[in-house]
Amino acid sequence: MITHEYDVIVVGAGGAGLRATLGTVEKGLKTACISKVFPTRSHTVAAQGGISAALGNMGEDDWRYHFYDTVKGSDWLGDQDAIEYMCREAVSAVIELEHYGVPFSRTADGKIYQRAFGGMTTHYGEGQAQRTCAAADKTGHAILHTLYQQTLKHKAEFFVEYIVLDLIMENGECRGVVAWCLDDGSLHLFKAHTTILATGGYGRVYFSCTSAHTVTGDGNAMVLRAGLPLQDMEFIQFHPTGIYGAGCLITEGVRGEGGYLTNSEGERFMERYAPNAKDLASRDVVSRAITMELNAGRGVGEHKDHVYLHMEHLPVDVIHERLPAMVELARVFAGIDATKVPMPVTPTVHYNMGGIPTNYHAEVVTLEGKNPDKVVKGLMAVGEAACVSVHGANRLGSNSLLDLVVFGRAAAIRCAELITPNQLHSDLDSDFYTTALIRFDKIRNANGSKNTASIRLEMQKTMQSKAAVFRTKTTLDEGVVEMKAISTSFADLKLTDRSLIWNTDLVEALELDNLLAQATVTINAASNRLESRGGHAREDYPNRDDKNWLKHSLTWLQNGSVKIDYRPVHLYTLTDDVEVIPPKPRIY
Ligand code: FUM
Repeated sequence: MITHEYDVIVVGAGGAGLRATLGTVEKGLKTACISKVFPTRSHTVAAQGGISAALGNMGEDDWRYHFYDTVKGSDWLGDQDAIEYMCREAVSAVIELEHYGVPFSRTADGKIYQRAFGGMTTHYGEGQAQRTCAAADKTGHAILHTLYQQTLKHKAEFFVEYIVLDLIMENGECRGVVAWCLDDGSLHLFKAHTTILATGGYGRVYFSCTSAHTVTGDGNAMVLRAGLPLQDMEFIQFHPTGIYGAGCLITEGVRGEGGYLTNSEGERFMERYAPNAKDLASRDVVSRAITMELNAGRGVGEHKDHVYLHMEHLPVDVIHERLPAMVELARVFAGIDATKVPMPVTPTVHYNMGGIPTNYHAEVVTLEGKNPDKVVKGLMAVGEAACVSVHGANRLGSNSLLDLVVFGRAAAIRCAELITPNQLHSDLDSDFYTTALIRFDKIRNANGSKNTASIRLEMQKTMQSKAAVFRTKTTLDEGVVEMKAISTSFADLKLTDRSLIWNTDLVEALELDNLLAQATVTINAASNRLESRGGHAREDYPNRDDKNWLKHSLTWLQNGSVKIDYRPVHLYTLTDDVEVIPPKPRIY
């Protein structure tokens, strides 16, 4: 076991992890960023449409309108103090990115180009905002590369292709992590005064998702193993326009630039479901509308199981300037020329609103006695891994890249307040990391009869069919039972490679173990929430129920059993600059 000592450890090198790393090194804290992939291969690279901020470059805008839209988009499950923090900070966060060197697209007069996105309005729902700052349709790619360059400039230290196995917890405090280096098979103990989890979502619990194969929510699973809860795991976002059959994302920016959806009758059906916002209604609304069209037999194609997204009516030069990657994706994954014919699309899992509960300083919180905001010392979470909760029950498109940079920065600011550079580390009892190594070795030596891929496929098929866009007691309860059996079957796993060097068999098994834990708490939380809100649409409880369910759910996983409790939603703001928005009926 090779021991390292740092002020701060960041696990994950996507947008949130890199922004946190940059912030802590800038503040003189000795920081290491540990990543299972090379930083510029992190999933942020796949973010397309843009990053929201009320810059007002393309028309009137105000951060308060952004605040209003985000609270409403969250279906009132978002914490309003955190949402205020994010929307206020958005403008300076994007200008900061511009100064770091992000090559944003430009307006004719040289300002950052901004496009329309779903649910983004002006004057509290009256007008359509153009708030999403874009670098063509490769905004995540542009941000990720720029942040990585900045971290290198500031001489941040990276441990690349290291798999973090578990958190080291001592008396309720996080003291660092244990990791395995794929390159030479060595094991590492990273001691840190603060560990920041920036490990992303867990889209790969589903069969069809826009996420990379690496999106396995490793930090979330470590938190569960540490005996801490995850929050609001029932809220899964289906992006309305994944490429049919492949799942790859076709950006909402297509509809922001004037694209629209049609069914088998050539009807622009969103006009019926959301007469005001139409194709730019929030994602939960559009995904449900597509699903209802398919269920009514109005899908297109041989199996009537998808709809069309049109952009072929847009001028070709506009498509090539603003949406070039969409043409390429449609060519590669659907075999069509999207400048000439519509793209086949269907709702696809895209984002996890739930995750590790934090406050707006990025500190992990848990429920302790009557205190719902008890800070877990030494542990932070940012990005999709975290549930701040700025997205509540449904995230608005382009609020994710914003969340990454605003809360990555917030974590760094908090670290600088809490840690004196090069503070000494006290000794650790080896018992605190032997549990992690026992799990690692047990999986490495697994000698049952099932392989990783078969268990993973069973999990993905169950989650896809039982925790889908629309859910009922029957599907969810079946899903709970099936997930229990699938998780139990992990004990019968067989690995064929027992080596320590670049053992991808073992990596996938460790990731599967992580996914199974998250699938289990997700399906249990979904079965438990008896209402419809945001991304959680129950056919048997079609209405939002603020009387009983205006609360965050917390799920713990203890010896395979799920325990559920609740935290209140923060229905208060940080300043008097903005008023608390009380829940209102859904009108689109
Ligand atoms: O549609 C998109 O470009 C996705 C953006 C997002 O999820 O924020």
